[in-house]
Amino acid sequence: MNILVTGGAGYVGSHAVKRLLAAGHSVVVLDNLVYGHRAATGSTRLVEGDLADRALVEGLLTENAIEAVMHFAAYAYVGESVTDPAKYYQNNIVGTLSLLDAMVACDVKKLVFSSTCATYGVPNTVPIPEDHPQAPINPYGFTKLVIERAMADYRRAYGLSYAALRYFNASGAAADGSIGEDHKPETHLIPLVLDVALGKREHITIFGEDYPTPDGTCIRDYIHVDDLGDAHVAAIQKLGNSADGPTELRVNVGTGQGASVRQVIAACELATGKTIACVAGPRREGDPAKLVADPRGAERLLGWRARHTDINEIVASAWRWHGTHPDGYADR
Ligand code: UFG
Repeated sequence: MNILVTGGAGYVGSHAVKRLLAAGHSVVVLDNLVYGHRAATGSTRLVEGDLADRALVEGLLTENAIEAVMHFAAYAYVGESVTDPAKYYQNNIVGTLSLLDAMVACDVKKLVFSSTCATYGVPNTVPIPEDHPQAPINPYGFTKLVIERAMADYRRAYGLSYAALRYFNASGAAADGSIGEDHKPETHLIPLVLDVALGKREHITIFGEDYPTPDGTCIRDYIHVDDLGDAHVAAIQKLGNSADGPTELRVNVGTGQGASVRQVIAACELATGKTIACVAGPRREGDPAKLVADPRGAERLLGWRARHTDINEIVASAWRWHGTHPDGYADR
């Protein structure tokens, strides 16, 4: 298939592009490089531009005979979405609606969308199944939920086929060590802990040790970014039109296993051979104690399941890239 990948120079998008190419698809990347890295796209065609540039997007869809879109381009800092919601509403909602309208205008009917477990808010049951109520507690999660609803309406009205993949905690790096995680600023646990191992930070602050979990720290479902990429490949291959396959997929993408902050730090110590200095800090606002996917929906709907379920293995893959790219990509 000819696939347009928005945000294909970002962390999850760039890993998905590699998996799409490996599965034999043709890819064009659209990225504004605000957070993405040119170097993450390798030799794949990269068009630098904005999602909301309707003429540009329609041109790309038509000229490249695009059959499906994978839409990763979004802002994804939960804290920033609280302090600067306008940025999130504009890009994640307005930008995405422009993309949807361009797809409708150009008769491109398949879309795989990066959604998030943050659409569930504070879960009332864990592991979380797909039919759990969606009640996000921050603007970031809300922007993703709005697009899930918009896609459902576009499906009914305009015949769009879509998959909303609700990611848990994307982590790790490509098996071949060629690309990895480089956010500026970095807020995610694993790369921050690896920075301590590299001597770039003095310590990691643990955001709360009084949660109702076995070691008192928050539990998350860390999903390897290559597995996440494979879930996208499975989704795009499953999506049909009304005659030949499902036109609507809402799927949790996680392992079904949880790891606590303490367990992640221990995995980083194992991978790096360094002792990580930790400082106890207060809870971070909006952090639920435990977020773990019920992975059975993905198996049933996509025929996909995570291959990397061991946090030590996931962290070791992150370290292979992080340890050899201590300053991230060379382009910034
Ligand atoms: N944490 C620390 N110290 C740090 C950073 C993180 O203790 O310096 C803890 C957090 O409190 C959390 C865990 O490590 O318990 C993981 O935190 P991340 O920031 O790495 O990831 P989140 O679970 O907060 O966020 C991820 C994605 C979001 C998505 C969210 C869904 O990055 O985009 O999952 O809940 F919205």
